Amino acid sequence: MPSDAFVAQLNEQIGHEYAAHQQYVAIAVHYDAETLPQLASFFYRQALEERDHAMMMVQYLLDADAEVVIPGVAAPQVGFSDVVAPVSLALAQERRVTEQINALASTARTEGDFTSEQFIQWFIKEQVEEVATMSDLLRVVQRSQDDPMEIENYLAREHGGGGGGGDDPTAPRPAGG
Ligand SMILES: [Fe+2]
Ligand SMILES: [Fe+2]
Repeated sequence: MPSDAFVAQLNEQIGHEYAAHQQYVAIAVHYDAETLPQLASFFYRQALEERDHAMMMVQYLLDADAEVVIPGVAAPQVGFSDVVAPVSLALAQERRVTEQINALASTARTEGDFTSEQFIQWFIKEQVEEVATMSDLLRVVQRSQDDPMEIENYLAREHGGGGGGGDDPTAPRPAGG
């Protein structure tokens, strides 16, 4: 049985992951409306990953017979001043989530909850990748903000053909997956 403190904090994190999902859908729709299909599909994929993160946490709590509370989320930001703003927001979000995941690891360790500590390790690694991917994208978007086709070409080259994190065999199983 995971510690009560970890369960409470993980339930909160499910809300943060769903908020990230909603924010990425909002960003994807924004780029879709601007006819920037590669940026749109990158963020649609990111959104699905966030949804999976939430559902992996749900499955962990289900497996542990712990209480799961599916939360409501705050409305995402939907208006953006330029092509760079959504990616800046996304990077800030990934950095914030990294802190939240580290805090979860810290709680698990303090509580002597080694099973939960092990569970959260995958998310620590995942956050390193997500922050790196998003800071790379931010650099590209800042450099090419006057020529969005350059950004589209970069994404087609580096992130074309879907993929994402969906085929990682070490990933925890999402609920319903
Ligand atoms: Fe996430
Ligand atoms: Fe993320």
